[in-house]
Amino acid sequence: DAPVRVALLGCGVVGSQVARILVEQADDLRERVGRPLELVGIGVRRDIPRPGIDPALLTTDVASLVRREDVDIVVEMVGGIEPTLTYLLDAIAAGKSVVTANKALLAQHGDAVFDAARDSDVDVYYEAAVAGAIPIIRPLRESLVGDAITSVLGIVNGTTNYILDQMHTRKSTFADALAEAQSLGYAEADPTADVEGYDAAAKAAILASLAFHTRVHLDDVDREGITEIDVQDIAAAERLGCVVKLLARCTVSADGTVAVGVHPTMVPLEHPLAGIRGAYNAVFVESVNAGRLMFMGPGAGGSPTASAVLGDIVTAARNRVRGVAGPGESAYSTPGITPPGAV
Ligand code: HSE
Repeated sequence: DAPVRVALLGCGVVGSQVARILVEQADDLRERVGRPLELVGIGVRRDIPRPGIDPALLTTDVASLVRREDVDIVVEMVGGIEPTLTYLLDAIAAGKSVVTANKALLAQHGDAVFDAARDSDVDVYYEAAVAGAIPIIRPLRESLVGDAITSVLGIVNGTTNYILDQMHTRKSTFADALAEAQSLGYAEADPTADVEGYDAAAKAAILASLAFHTRVHLDDVDREGITEIDVQDIAAAERLGCVVKLLARCTVSADGTVAVGVHPTMVPLEHPLAGIRGAYNAVFVESVNAGRLMFMGPGAGGSPTASAVLGDIVTAARNRVRGVAGPGESAYSTPGITPPGAV
């Protein structure tokens, strides 16, 4: 059977793990897709040796790789906005399925990407864009789509949760804890996105868009990071029986108004979100019919995030084998179910 051909863009913390799994678990993946998954190229910015990666796969001509005729699925783990957005739109226009982990891009240019995907009738999967390995995009986009979600509360940035956790439990300084989070591969290339809350805000925009069937842009998210949190704040929270967490809060009011914010928040120790340690993430969803749901697990790091990317690759590949696009973007792009209590 003809293989499903995959092009990878980016070979960093996550990309290198995705490349490794595609090769090491090729037999299992072939069984799950029904055809071999063949990695045909890895687009990189700099042509340097990458341990464990077949050098013949590497190319700096990313624009050509994206449009290569035999490529079925483009997996984007480059990050950033441009030229990444151009690569994605080119891939979609050329009929490729797209898998991306790029929360910043989706939170700012989701409209362009999803509209293009709808026009070309191709898949865009982005499970790894929010909360690393935790399945949360599919639950919101598919499993809970028949329910009415009233709020989503989440710890969606591993770096800041790691820092705050270290400040509480080890009495580490902010700077030491950040340096550790960087060395463990949790932080973004520029950790400002983590500590100033931009990364969590982008994820909150994506979650709110899915939960409330609307389009929430990064600019719509009220945002405050953790750079002002010091040992005194940590001690004050502890005296009150709380821990400080960077919380994303997405709510919809009775009149249908959606509010999305990211703020350092005192969380009482008895709340389930208080116990989320290290770089773990958790998302707490409340809906009219299901009630309360909690999703938790590793929220950052190479292998965990690669797990979510591989799930998307297999799903997109299965769809291609059957000649169908995925669940479609109507749930994301079109206001759908009326929020509960809306007038
Ligand atoms: N820098 C991000 C985090 C990586 O710390 O959560 C996962 O998106």
